[in-house]
Amino acid sequence: MNKQPENPIGIFDSGIGGLTVAHAIRNLLPHEKIVYFGDTAHLPYGDKSESAIQAYSVKIANVLLEKGCKVIVIACHSASSAAYELLKEYVRHEAHVINVIDPMIAYVSENFTGSTLGLIGTKRTVQSDIYTKKINGLTKNIKLNTLATPLLAPMIEEGFFNNQISREIIAQYLSDPHLGKIDALILACTHYPLIKKEISEYYLGKTVVLDSSLVVARSLKDYLIAEGLLNSAPYPENHFYVSDYTESFETSTKLFFGQNVRLESHRLWN
Ligand code: DGL
Repeated sequence: MNKQPENPIGIFDSGIGGLTVAHAIRNLLPHEKIVYFGDTAHLPYGDKSESAIQAYSVKIANVLLEKGCKVIVIACHSASSAAYELLKEYVRHEAHVINVIDPMIAYVSENFTGSTLGLIGTKRTVQSDIYTKKINGLTKNIKLNTLATPLLAPMIEEGFFNNQISREIIAQYLSDPHLGKIDALILACTHYPLIKKEISEYYLGKTVVLDSSLVVARSLKDYLIAEGLLNSAPYPENHFYVSDYTESFETSTKLFFGQNVRLESHRLWN
């Protein structure tokens, strides 16, 4: 049983994208110890089958449970759509599981009644139709237009953004007629907050761009308070594991968490 206040928060993604969520969690909950797992060996998740992502997620959950995590945050929309129900059941007695989709659904339910929303994400997330099903289930008269944008996560993972080519790729996707006339755009991939500025610039700041990092951090905080699991450790030491070491991952990790971050290698299969 890992559910003790001093135990860490486990966070995982296919790569660096989940760091946008980890960053929001660290800002909102600075006394929580973070154990991050980037499954760089299997990136991108967006092109993988549901069963492959489920298998990776279970392996990662085992690592995070071994590290004593009291909560597992699936900081990846592709894994949240493919493996949330399975993981919740799998770790049921030891840890609580939070995904990145439900907090965003709750947010749009409160703030976008009667609106037309656009959504961009990986093929896995878009094909799962999970956002459409959940939004229709709200009966708030919200219309959702979704578009798979598979080039974006690998582009960001390579550190390839804020340049002319990335702006053109983004513009090519966002000019799809399917995303015309929307009141807000949901970034349904945790890599995309890293290009949020470029996306907002494409819309000249006139369309709201929603990313899930902050709402997920808030939902984690609500859970920890409700369960009496908030940590009060003064200087928690965070750990960052990758299933395959890459330089771009190390560089991005430092951008988010400072120069003292040390990446540790942890293979999922031997
Ligand atoms: N960051 C992930 C997501 O939110 C996965 C991107 C990928 O690995 O394809 O979907």
